[in-house]
Amino acid sequence: MKAIVITAPGGPEVLELQEVEDPTLNHDEVLVKVEATALNRADILQRKGQYPPPKGASPYPGLECSGTVEAVGKDVSRWKIGDQVCCLLSGGGYAEKVAVPAGQVLPVPPGVSLKDAAAFPEVACTVWSTIFMTSRLSAGESLLVHGGSSGIGTFAIQIAKYRGASVFVTAGSEEKLAFCKNLGADVGINYKTEDFVARVKEETGGKGVDVILDSIGASYFKRNLESLNYDGRLFLIGFMEGAVTELDLRALFPKRLTVQAAGLRTRTPENKAEIVSEVEKNVWPAVVAGKVKPVIYKYFPLSEAAEAHRLMESSKHIGKILLVP
Ligand SMILES: NC(=O)c1ccc[n+]([C@@H]2O[C@H](COP(=O)([O-])OP(=O)(O)OC[C@H]3O[C@@H](n4cnc5c(N)ncnc54)[C@H](OP(=O)(O)O)[C@@H]3O)[C@@H](O)[C@H]2O)c1
Repeated sequence: MKAIVITAPGGPEVLELQEVEDPTLNHDEVLVKVEATALNRADILQRKGQYPPPKGASPYPGLECSGTVEAVGKDVSRWKIGDQVCCLLSGGGYAEKVAVPAGQVLPVPPGVSLKDAAAFPEVACTVWSTIFMTSRLSAGESLLVHGGSSGIGTFAIQIAKYRGASVFVTAGSEEKLAFCKNLGADVGINYKTEDFVARVKEETGGKGVDVILDSIGASYFKRNLESLNYDGRLFLIGFMEGAVTELDLRALFPKRLTVQAAGLRTRTPENKAEIVSEVEKNVWPAVVAGKVKPVIYKYFPLSEAAEAHRLMESSKHIGKILLVP
C-alpha cells in the first residue's frame, strides 16, 4: 500500500508518499481501506520528532480515519467486511489501509458522508472524554474554549450548545469569531485585542465560567484560573504556548478549583474503547439529528500531505483539514 512516511524529523518537506508493507491484522482488529484521514496538531509534533508513536503503534502519522472494513480479525464480532466506519487510531491514518482495534471503530453516522466522517473521531473522543466525562459540564453551565476555530473548538462549540451549556470562545481574528458565532458560540473574544479574563468577568456578572477547555498551556494558566467560577474546572489538552509555569497554590482554594489534564493517544485500548462507546451513545445522536456537523476547511490528496501541514501551521484554517488517498 501507499503511506506517508516521515523520512526524518523536520519541516513539511520530510513527508513523502512511499510504497510500504500492508499492516498486519491482530485477532481483535479490523482492517480498514481508508477513505479519508484528518490532520491533528499532534501530527506536526510527530513530524518534528517531538511526539513519537506509542509502543506498537503504526510509524505513519494519522490519528483518525474513515473507510470501509476490508477484513476482520477472528475475535471481532461487531464488524463485517463492507461496513462503513470511522476510527480513532494510535497512528497510521495517512495510508491506504490501517489496522485498528475493534473497540476504536464507530459506524458512520447517517447523514454524514463516508469521507467527512474522518473529521469526527479525534475531536469527538477528546472533547467528550474531557469536558463531559471528566469535567461534567452540564446544561445551564458555561464553557470557555480557547482556539474556538480549531478542529477541537468547532466541535466543542456545537456539542456544548446541544447539551445546553453557554459557550465562550477565544480566536485570533474577527472572521474566525464570526464563524464560531454561526456555529452557536454565545460570546466571542478576540485574544489579540481583548483581555479574555476581563471579558469573561464582564459577560458573567463577575462570576466566571464553570469549565475551560485549554490547549494554550503555560501562558494562559493563571488567567484561566482567574476566569473560573466557584467549583470551576480547568481541563488542559495541550500546551501550544508553553508547558512550564509557576503557581501560587492559594489561587485554587477560595473558589474550590479543579485542574485536570489528559492525552488521548497514550490511553490503553480498553480506555479508548470506553470513550468510543460513550461517544457513540452520547454524541452520535446529536450528529444524526444534524445538530453537530463536521466542519471541514479543505481536502487534500494524500500525496499533498506536506501542503496540508503547511496550512495547519499557518493557522489560517477553520475546523478540520482532510487527506484523501
Ligand atoms: N490532549 C488530547 O488528547 C488532544 C487531542 C486533540 C487535540 N489536542 C490539542 O488541542 C489543540 C487543538 O488541536 P487542533 O488539532 O484542533 O488544532 P488546530 O485546528 O490546528 O487549531 C489550533 C488553533 O489554536 C489557535 N490559537 C493559537 N494560539 C492561540 C491563543 N493564544 N489563544 C487562543 N487560540 C489560539 C489558532 O487559531 P487563531 O488564529 O485563533 O490563533 C489555531 O488555529 C492542540 O493543542 C492539540 O494538540 C489535544
